[in-house]
Amino acid sequence: MRAIICPHYGPPDVLEIREVPTPVPGPKDVLVRVLATTVTSGDRRVRSGDFPRGFGWIAVLVVGLKGPRQPILGTELAGVVEAVGPAVTRFKVGDAVIGFAGASMGCHAEFRCFPEDGLIVPKPANLTFEEAASLSFGATTAIDFLRRAKLQAGEHLLVNGAAGGVGTSVVQIAKHLGAHVTGVCSTANVELVRSIGADRVIDYTREDFTRDAARYDVIVDTVGNAAYERSRVALKERGRLALVLATLADNLGALWVAMTSRHRVVGGPANVRVEDLHTMVELAAKGALRPVIDRRFPFERIADAHRYVDAGHKRGSVVVTIGDRDPQSR
Ligand SMILES: NC(=O)c1ccc[n+]([C@@H]2O[C@H](COP(=O)([O-])OP(=O)(O)OC[C@H]3O[C@@H](n4cnc5c(N)ncnc54)[C@H](OP(=O)(O)O)[C@@H]3O)[C@@H](O)[C@H]2O)c1
Repeated sequence: MRAIICPHYGPPDVLEIREVPTPVPGPKDVLVRVLATTVTSGDRRVRSGDFPRGFGWIAVLVVGLKGPRQPILGTELAGVVEAVGPAVTRFKVGDAVIGFAGASMGCHAEFRCFPEDGLIVPKPANLTFEEAASLSFGATTAIDFLRRAKLQAGEHLLVNGAAGGVGTSVVQIAKHLGAHVTGVCSTANVELVRSIGADRVIDYTREDFTRDAARYDVIVDTVGNAAYERSRVALKERGRLALVLATLADNLGALWVAMTSRHRVVGGPANVRVEDLHTMVELAAKGALRPVIDRRFPFERIADAHRYVDAGHKRGSVVVTIGDRDPQSR
């Protein structure tokens, strides 16, 4: 099969298309033919080796010394089941599915295997393959951080970075949970963030949410510039700060915040469960979670997709399509 290989950390030019062996499904594995995948902020990080401050040495140990140990990037996909192992009972050849590989990656290829009890679920019929591929990275991160921040119906939530892959999911899922949602983004994205359900939008080029009178039960920072020292003034008395992106020091500071204030800080990597994918699919099937696709690139131009993501201003997801079958089909 063809796969995009990242042989070492570097700019998008390091990526190469290569022929590699097609994975062979084990007895309980499902082999998926990939029709659509994405380039996420996670792919950009692993390709470039640009990890949040303080995490560099941990990332090198976990991800790889000179380059990613798993050289095929790609965290999420949508496609069709090509083959199943003899003990598989929940999927059959031809099923349309969504798979989330997360940090184990490997979706920038024509095929990827998943254990049948892993992070793989049927694709909802109302989504195209492109749309289905675009959801998991943002939605599973949003679901996990909102769960750990214990967001309740009727609470006020602010999301910094509301136009990105994670932010667009946080806005929609928090609205679905009954929160009053404020999104922070640049002027160009104000309409987008409003259109996906935010009750209020703050344009960060004109206003600083920490200098505003509003106070929030939950603040979600996906940008990395709203750690506790800056955000604390905007938190209510028992407010929670969810650091989707933060330095190691800001993550470690969570303990100190818990000991010295009534606030809580949650951070670290998202912990994704298969139930989260089912929740995501249910929300998408009933229209409560709408995919936001910024741009589409063919597989062969994946380096251009990385260049676009590198700029740090994508809106929602950047989709990559593979093969001849129309990924716009349902
Ligand atoms: N902890 C975890 O497990 C976890 C999981 C997923 C992602 N992450 C991390 O979370 C971060 C966000 O991920 P993502 O996929 O959402 O990234 P993304 O899609 O690349 O985010 C791009 C968005 O960031 C916004 N942005 C840039 N500067 C901003 C600013 N100063 N204020 C407000 N918004 C700003 C941009 O909006 P404008 O164009 O309007 O500025 C753009 O829409 C990444 O660094 C990623 O590595 C962590």
